[in-house]
Amino acid sequence: MKVHGVFLVAVFFYLAYTHLVNGQPHKDCQTRCGNVTIEYPFGTSPSCHYADDPSFKLTCNDKEKLLFGRDFEVINISHKELRVWNNVSYVCDNSTGNLNDGASYIYTQSNLSLSRNNKFTVVGCNALALLMTYGTRNHSAVCLSTCDSPPVANGECNGEGCCSTDVFVPLDSNKFRTLPTRVPNMTSVYDFNPCIYTFLAENGTFHFDASEDLKNLRNVKEFPMVLDWSIGNQTCNEVGNTSVRGMNNSTCFHSNSRPGYNCKCLEGFEGNPYLSYEHGCQDIDECTSKSTIHKHNCSDPSTCRNKDGGFYCKCRCGYRLDTNTMSCQRKDFGWATILLGTTIGFLSILLAVSCVRQKMKHRKDIYKGILPDNSIVAIKKARRGDSSQV
Ligand SMILES: *[C@@H]1O[C@H](CO)[C@@H](O)[C@H](O)[C@H]1NC(C)=O
Ligand SMILES: *[C@@H]1O[C@H](CO)[C@@H](O)[C@H](O)[C@H]1NC(C)=O
Ligand SMILES: *[C@@H]1O[C@H](CO)[C@@H](O)[C@H](O)[C@H]1NC(C)=O
Ligand SMILES: *[C@@H]1O[C@H](CO)[C@@H](O)[C@H](O)[C@H]1NC(C)=O
Ligand SMILES: *[C@@H]1O[C@H](CO)[C@@H](O)[C@H](O)[C@H]1NC(C)=O
Ligand SMILES: *[C@@H]1O[C@H](CO)[C@@H](O)[C@H](O)[C@H]1NC(C)=O
Ligand SMILES: *[C@@H]1O[C@H](CO)[C@@H](O)[C@H](O)[C@H]1NC(C)=O
Ligand SMILES: *[C@@H]1O[C@H](CO)[C@@H](O)[C@H](O)[C@H]1NC(C)=O
Ligand SMILES: *[C@@H]1O[C@H](CO)[C@@H](O)[C@H](O)[C@H]1NC(C)=O
Ligand SMILES: *[C@@H]1O[C@H](CO)[C@@H](O)[C@H](O)[C@H]1NC(C)=O
Ligand SMILES: *[C@@H]1O[C@H](CO)[C@@H](O)[C@H](O)[C@H]1NC(C)=O
Ligand SMILES: *[C@@H]1O[C@H](CO)[C@@H](O)[C@H](O)[C@H]1NC(C)=O
Repeated sequence: MKVHGVFLVAVFFYLAYTHLVNGQPHKDCQTRCGNVTIEYPFGTSPSCHYADDPSFKLTCNDKEKLLFGRDFEVINISHKELRVWNNVSYVCDNSTGNLNDGASYIYTQSNLSLSRNNKFTVVGCNALALLMTYGTRNHSAVCLSTCDSPPVANGECNGEGCCSTDVFVPLDSNKFRTLPTRVPNMTSVYDFNPCIYTFLAENGTFHFDASEDLKNLRNVKEFPMVLDWSIGNQTCNEVGNTSVRGMNNSTCFHSNSRPGYNCKCLEGFEGNPYLSYEHGCQDIDECTSKSTIHKHNCSDPSTCRNKDGGFYCKCRCGYRLDTNTMSCQRKDFGWATILLGTTIGFLSILLAVSCVRQKMKHRKDIYKGILPDNSIVAIKKARRGDSSQV
């Protein structure tokens, strides 16, 4: 079982190697656009990004903004996610309930997926919003909020003034739209809620405040949103079993919202898991690391020894490591051992002494007697206090 596991891991290294090392970026790839760091498999020029999927090509515009596709401005990139800005769709009524203003955005995310770490939210009274996704199967999610008077300001997005729902959409969706509407003939809320807002936002980035948000959503026009990305459309096992050579230090895993696979560095390594050697996952030297997460915990730093994927605390000869305090302790027997040893020793001596005494006593008390018929008998001396019988 263990061997099998090791084999699979080796296989995963291989797939990352063969599928990605060909696309190893050359020296003059752009690594930064504005404040955003760009890393393989993403890139801004053909030889710099993962060649088999144009989704990994990004654009750095003249305002130093990094764009994914036509529509998304990138906030940052991790080894499995792309964080982007997403516009708020809205619709506003005038006092007689007619449409005054509005916008409903359609985004093309191509081979990336809407992460389950987003929430679909609508803010407004008597408001209904659709999240529509397009692909081989079209799909709609609905969120409904009802209220005839201003809701109490308690910050809960619970269906009164605000509705929020998880994002589960078909895996192959490549486009989505957020569309708000007012429930017909329920526009009497106009004076405290002129507009309805709807958006996809990363879980935790929006906190509903009835007194502020029903007026104008605090003038927020966009929210951070998470897109999941992965390599290809096959599983780790599927791509892996053609292994002929291994790439170590990184491992394969599956996105929960996409087909295809992702890579990550093994525990104790850091770097880009989609590359190998000096650009790829490298051992973290826990003994010298400034990071709090990866720092060693040897109580005396001079005892720390780095090794691939970890570290250990090395004690001098005659010392052993106390794993509670991670400090070196002299190899001695300790008070408990001494006490136990002494007690056992003392007891053994006592036992031995009493044995010997018992034996001697036996010898003393038994006499050889010769009976009148010449037979020999052993005579045991009667106990003391029983002398009357002697
Ligand atoms: C980079 O970040 C700084 C500080 O957060 C910000 O002021 C600046 O506008 C950012 N630059 C770009 C191009 O986004
Ligand atoms: C999606 O990925 C496939 C390969 O997995 C590629 O052929 C296709 O062009 C990609 N689609 C887009 C829109 O980038
Ligand atoms: C989002 O809003 C900005 C500014 O209003 C606009 O330039 C951009 O085109 C919008 N995005 C989409 C996908 O329509
Ligand atoms: C990206 O930005 C988010 C929110 O600002 C932050 O929590 C996260 O750590 C960042 N991720 C990376 C890889 O920089
Ligand atoms: C509301 O909009 C409708 C249609 O656009 C218009 O006929 C009506 O005069 C507007 N009412 C007010 C109070 O602006
Ligand atoms: C959203 O965040 C909350 C708390 O931060 C957490 O309890 C909840 O499980 C998260 N939901 C999703 C879909 O990740
Ligand atoms: C999905 O919606 C688009 C746009 O409305 C339409 O062109 C397409 O035929 C629909 N696909 C399916 C499978 O219904
Ligand atoms: C909305 O109200 C108007 C007038 O009060 C009425 O004529 C109309 O039938 C109502 N529409 C719906 C969908 O209830
Ligand atoms: C995976 O992608 C390839 C190339 O884009 C395509 O030919 C194949 O049908 C896809 N397989 C699945 C199961 O989606
Ligand atoms: C990969 O594994 C599948 C199922 O175990 C097998 O049918 C296939 O022949 C293997 N392919 C290679 C190239 O080893
Ligand atoms: C990685 O592979 C090289 C040889 O290919 C080997 O020398 C090294 O010990 C391996 N490292 C790990 C952490 O497996
Ligand atoms: C694995 O990590 C070791 C130690 O940092 C490094 O020397 C080696 O180049 C790495 N191997 C690969 C294939 O990235």
